[in-house]
Amino acid sequence: MIPNFRLFPDTASSVAGEVNTFYILMIVFTGGISLAIAIFLVYSALRYHRKNDNEMGAQFRNNYRIEATWIILPFFFFMAMFAWGAKVYFDIERPPANAIRIYAVGKQWMWKVQHPEGQREINELHIPVGRPVQLFMTSEDVIHSFYVPAFRTKQDVLPDRYTSTWFEATKPGKYHLFCAEFCGAKHSGMIGYVYAMEPREYQSWLTQGASEGSLASMGEKYFHQYGCADCHHFNDAGRAPHLTGLYNRPVQISDGQTVTADDGYIRESILNPGAKIVYGYANIMPNFTGTVSEEQVIALISYIKALSPAPGSQRPSSSGAVPKEYGTEKGISGPGATSDSNSQKGVR
Ligand code: CUA
Repeated sequence: MIPNFRLFPDTASSVAGEVNTFYILMIVFTGGISLAIAIFLVYSALRYHRKNDNEMGAQFRNNYRIEATWIILPFFFFMAMFAWGAKVYFDIERPPANAIRIYAVGKQWMWKVQHPEGQREINELHIPVGRPVQLFMTSEDVIHSFYVPAFRTKQDVLPDRYTSTWFEATKPGKYHLFCAEFCGAKHSGMIGYVYAMEPREYQSWLTQGASEGSLASMGEKYFHQYGCADCHHFNDAGRAPHLTGLYNRPVQISDGQTVTADDGYIRESILNPGAKIVYGYANIMPNFTGTVSEEQVIALISYIKALSPAPGSQRPSSSGAVPKEYGTEKGISGPGATSDSNSQKGVR
């Protein structure tokens, strides 16, 4: 026997068991039906083959009862399989509302991970056990695919947009992470590990080496570094839309459509601002494609998200990245005027 041979990878996420059950049942049913057909085929060939050269085939008339049976039974059987499969699919696709959000950027040939607390890692992902984690992913170059067999999770990672997946680890351990989409010469080397940790260990891991501050505070730094603050003020006085409370809100754009200011929209508005201009504003923002990296875009989005008032309160959420003088900058309107404004205090 092969030592350590296992038919299945670890079953280590909340959906993995469901996927296993569905997979095994599908194999058993379809395998069983294939086997039954094959046996019947061989049996018929042996039993009814022509025994002498003069033999004539018997006249055969339709048997509607048999025909109806083999149409109707498989139809309902496979529709039931479809319904069940759809249920599993929806479970895998819909992240719970309380999921921790972690960002990943794929590039030839590595995975770069950013935690909201500021931790960054390469080809490793640390997560707590027993809490849903939602990954937001994009690629700097070609199509990759984020694959953790133990979680039964596989999601394509595409350039120019965010794709998302979620999982909840159910037992601590070190699990393989693969790129599952051929992406060039070193595709096979684009691998890593997911570390599922007990929540307490995870918390202490989070506090290690977060020197640069939270993702949102990094975003705040870029916000000033790239001159965003020159036009985007924290009231309506700027030449550009103000961003407080923008995240996940509807925005009317110049062609009259309404879009939601989600991660994808904000990303596009940073890298290619001309694509969807907010109604009433001129197309004056420079293009940041090639200037701002995907990781910086993620930090900027986190900053803008932190500017959003927390649900049920009128004040911006307290992430530490929010200017305390929010809403008090009336009168500042000229370009450059914000460079010494209050909004920059607190930037290290
Ligand atoms: Cu990235 Cu294969």
